[in-house]
Amino acid sequence: MSNNIIHWQDDAIPRSSLYDDIYFSTENGIEESKAVFLDGIDAPDVWQGCDQFTICELGFGTGLNFLNTVKMWMENSTINQRLIYFATELHPLSKVEIDRAVHWDELEGHKIDFLEHYPKPSFTLYDGRVSFQLLCGDCAESLKASSTKIDAWYMDGFAPAKNPDMWSDEIFTQMARLSNEGSRVATFTSAGFVRRGLSAANFHMTKRKGYCKKREMLSGVIS
Ligand SMILES: C[S@@+](CC[C@H](N)C(=O)[O-])C[C@H]1O[C@@H](n2cnc3c(N)ncnc32)[C@H](O)[C@@H]1O
Repeated sequence: MSNNIIHWQDDAIPRSSLYDDIYFSTENGIEESKAVFLDGIDAPDVWQGCDQFTICELGFGTGLNFLNTVKMWMENSTINQRLIYFATELHPLSKVEIDRAVHWDELEGHKIDFLEHYPKPSFTLYDGRVSFQLLCGDCAESLKASSTKIDAWYMDGFAPAKNPDMWSDEIFTQMARLSNEGSRVATFTSAGFVRRGLSAANFHMTKRKGYCKKREMLSGVIS
């Protein structure tokens, strides 16, 4: 059983007791998620012309990044394109917690469609236009066991100082092994050791302006 107890900051923002950190920004979680992850991988331009586009998220949490991605995908892809979304998670949240956390009207429809299936570990939505797979367990172990090639990575562990397991050289190495040519990576952190670790694993990393109060964040492309 998970010992990750969720507290609700300002009655709306989930906070993990285990990691003593928040799942998303207290300022504007939905806009932060778009700015860090969707802009960070250059969506929707990055998937134009691809029959299939595969994303892997490290740290699924409330599903906010997933639901933002599904919305953008459904508005900016053709019916023949397929989004494959893998999400790793060590402490899966309950349906009730996800329902409460993702409280934005613009995501309501997709959230309802998703929660009809969650927590099944894999399912498809919208006549197969979106496939979802939850990899429960430690993300390093999930990546080591995987052979699926990835087009874009969302690195969304808790802050590196609080959740070091999600920011290890082992993970950077596995990401490089599983990356397709031109694979992108986006993360909210600008920690030097993360930038250096991803660079050493062959990602060409760039610092971007951070969202809101954060000064900088990182994105990159495998070379
Ligand atoms: C910042 S939260 C993720 C927020 C999330 N992306 C969202 O949209 O709500 C970090 C997540 O990483 C998960 N996590 C922590 N350590 C992990 C590990 N070793 N492997 C996989 N997931 C882990 C936590 O349980 C938490 O859900």
